[in-house]
Amino acid sequence: MANILVTGGAGFIGSFIVDELISRGHKVRILDSLVEQVHKGKVPVYLNKEAEFIRGDVCDKEALAAALKDIDFVFHKAAEVGVGQSMYEVSRYVNANAMGTANLLDIIINNGEIKKRIKKIIVASSMSPYGEGMYSCEKCGIVNPSPRSEERIKMGIWELNCPKCNSILNPVPTPETKTQDASSVYALTKKFQEDLVMNAGKAYNIPVVAFRYFNVYGPRQSLSNPYTGVAAIFMSRVKNNHPPMIFEDGNQLRDFVSVHDIVQANMLAMEKDEANYQVYNVASGKAISVRAIAEMVARLCGKDIKPMITGQSRKGDIRHCFADITKIQKSLGFEPKVDFEEGMKELIKWAEDKEAKDLVDYMSKELKDKGIIS
Ligand code: UD1
Repeated sequence: MANILVTGGAGFIGSFIVDELISRGHKVRILDSLVEQVHKGKVPVYLNKEAEFIRGDVCDKEALAAALKDIDFVFHKAAEVGVGQSMYEVSRYVNANAMGTANLLDIIINNGEIKKRIKKIIVASSMSPYGEGMYSCEKCGIVNPSPRSEERIKMGIWELNCPKCNSILNPVPTPETKTQDASSVYALTKKFQEDLVMNAGKAYNIPVVAFRYFNVYGPRQSLSNPYTGVAAIFMSRVKNNHPPMIFEDGNQLRDFVSVHDIVQANMLAMEKDEANYQVYNVASGKAISVRAIAEMVARLCGKDIKPMITGQSRKGDIRHCFADITKIQKSLGFEPKVDFEEGMKELIKWAEDKEAKDLVDYMSKELKDKGIIS
């Protein structure tokens, strides 16, 4: 049995990790500030009663130091999430995601008692620092295109062209070795967070693992946070009999991974030494279009609602990105178990008796006012 700290343990991903750790007999402490946008300042009903709960922010060094007392493993999941919003709430995102992680490392490195005890830190990074995923050109092979230019996006040219011969590119699975090219503040904070943890871990011989999560979905995902989580956003729209609003043409590809598979990866990282000092993609390895998700949500909810293709674009959005998961499969024996349609059914069933405030119109107005949607 180990003493484990889960920062952000009241959140969507953190809370499932807490449940699994407790079911395995560990002693779990949660540090979570109950961010207003997600929790409305309230402890969520699903919070595991057997965990010790501390309401506190990772930006509050005192609270963090208290939470780290006698801890063996840290699952660092506390973060602000939302690509569009990060573009105009810069300091809020940098504070929570980058400074929060810097605080965690400062305390561990400089407090002998805490440092001696820590066995591993597992950090939630993201696919977002890749920027665009990996592409292949029929003539030039694998290429690594730069983010799309404003000009082309304004003209409604969504796909990417080969930087060498200008042919249309085909997206291919993205491995961990792809060069990173962050295109949003959120992505920059996640890259910095990952680099910080890797650097400090190696310098002080503290085993660290960074997971590059792709698009995670599942029960407990905020149904009323219009800034992130397209699967949940579409479900709130459909539940309220509104059409899902699709940016661009809906053919952009993402890789959706169930929160249960995310838990699997975290448990493997904790148990296996092979994970130490490694960075892994955590995803399903399958690509699905945003339009297909909107159609599936309507079908599974039994509603005849067609998505609205807005042709608008959101600054910071990439076109396609889905994962090559070979590294985590080979190194840790990870295997995604939840099929997307089954996972969506689970999310929809969970949401049946939950309030899903459709705040998309409010969000769209705000992002337009801030120049993020055009
Ligand atoms: C981003 C990050 C991801 C992060 C996640 C959490 C990138 C490339 N990915 O995912 O690492 O974990 O945020 O915030 O930065 N969309 C619509 N209609 C909507 C909402 C979204 O069409 O109402 C589209 C978006 O334009 C995008 C796709 O759906 O093309 C997915 O959006 P979203 O769920 O916000 O996640 P990502 O931006 O892919």
